[in-house]
Amino acid sequence: MSARERRLVEALHAWGSGALRDLPWRRTRDPWAVLVSEAMLQQTQVARVLDRYGPFLARFPDPAAMADAPLAEVLDAWAGLGYYRRARDLHRTAAAIVERHDGRVPDDLDALLALPGIGAYTARAVLALAFEHDHGVVDTNVARVLARAVAGEPMTATRVQRLADTLVPAGAAWLHNQALLDLGATVCTARTPRCDVCPLADVCVWRGAPDVTDPARTTAGTSRPQAPFAGSDRQGRGRLLAALRGTSSAGVAAEQLDDVTGFADDARARRVADGLVADGLARWDGDVLRSPR
Ligand code: ADE
Repeated sequence: MSARERRLVEALHAWGSGALRDLPWRRTRDPWAVLVSEAMLQQTQVARVLDRYGPFLARFPDPAAMADAPLAEVLDAWAGLGYYRRARDLHRTAAAIVERHDGRVPDDLDALLALPGIGAYTARAVLALAFEHDHGVVDTNVARVLARAVAGEPMTATRVQRLADTLVPAGAAWLHNQALLDLGATVCTARTPRCDVCPLADVCVWRGAPDVTDPARTTAGTSRPQAPFAGSDRQGRGRLLAALRGTSSAGVAAEQLDDVTGFADDARARRVADGLVADGLARWDGDVLRSPR
């Protein structure tokens, strides 16, 4: 680590020690609770996760509780969080944890990566934020901070991960990563970074050269603007899943697909329904789309 990087890490930790947001998944080191929070936070805003996290964990307090439940129940509990494939993956992961690891979340990178739907981000988040192992956690926010403040130039995904790992001081992975996640979410934001209040401003490479193009823009893993939700396939998927939810749902008949999705185009409505089936989020029962068993 260079002297500048060391100063940057010190400033980051000093800031994080005082300014971290008080969030429920920061009051636990239970690896299952951390895994659930990271699955939710990957594509959903903190504010939306906040009121769903507690009830979800109360219903599925450990991998065995989830593995015992039918997928339809997990999907019901996931309601409002969107991107339901994450719920399906979590259900599969819970079963694999029960089968392979006696119901306990493993504290090993390869074992975590071998679980269904657990990628580089979630595996390292569990290791760093639950087990406090020395790993750098890289989501889009962290990749942006590192590209701007440390590299000062665009990076490949491999380089971002390597840099993230080298910056973690031994034994300080929890605070370090939570601070980076928060700094990226609240200060070093994508569109209007608040450099005037940033604790890293003095040591930030990009801040030192404000006329240089934002290096985060072309760094691997930083987010691209999302396509509008209204009128999207995602919206149609969400509407179909909402109609299937709950034990009282009679399912959605093939001829109702256009009404429920809001798509005038029958073929498109059918394609979205078939996509849910392919993803294991619904099944055809004759001509009726239903929740998975
Ligand atoms: N986004 C992803 N992980 C997070 C965490 N642990 N806290 C806040 N936001 C996050």
